[in-house]
Amino acid sequence: MEDWSPVARAEDLPVGRAIVVQHEGEAVAVFNIEGRLFACSEHCPHAGGPLHLGLLRGTTVVCPWHGWNFDLDPATAPPRDGALRYLVRLQDGQILLRTKVAPSSE
Ligand code: FES
Repeated sequence: MEDWSPVARAEDLPVGRAIVVQHEGEAVAVFNIEGRLFACSEHCPHAGGPLHLGLLRGTTVVCPWHGWNFDLDPATAPPRDGALRYLVRLQDGQILLRTKVAPSSE
C-alpha cells in the first residue's frame, strides 16, 4: 500500500524555491526545480548543514556549509550517500511525500 502524506500546500513552494517540512518525524527539504518537485533529508549527513539553503545545479543540491553534493532525483541518486530521498507528488493543491525511497546510510 502506498503511503503518501500531505506536507504543504503547492502555493507554498513556487518554482525555484525550497521549503522545510516535517514528514514521519524527520525534517525534509522540498525543492521546486523548474516545476518538478524533489525532496531529501534537510540535514546534510556530513555535519547537519541546511540543504534547503543549498545552491542548485540542475537536480543536484550543494550543501551551503562545506559543498557536498546530493542528486535529488531518486531515479539517479546514488544509493548510499547518507541523505534520504522521498517521492513527491501534487494532488488537490497539496504536496504529498512518500516514505523514504533510498535509504542510504545503512
Ligand atoms: S554540513 Fe554539508 S557538506 Fe558539511
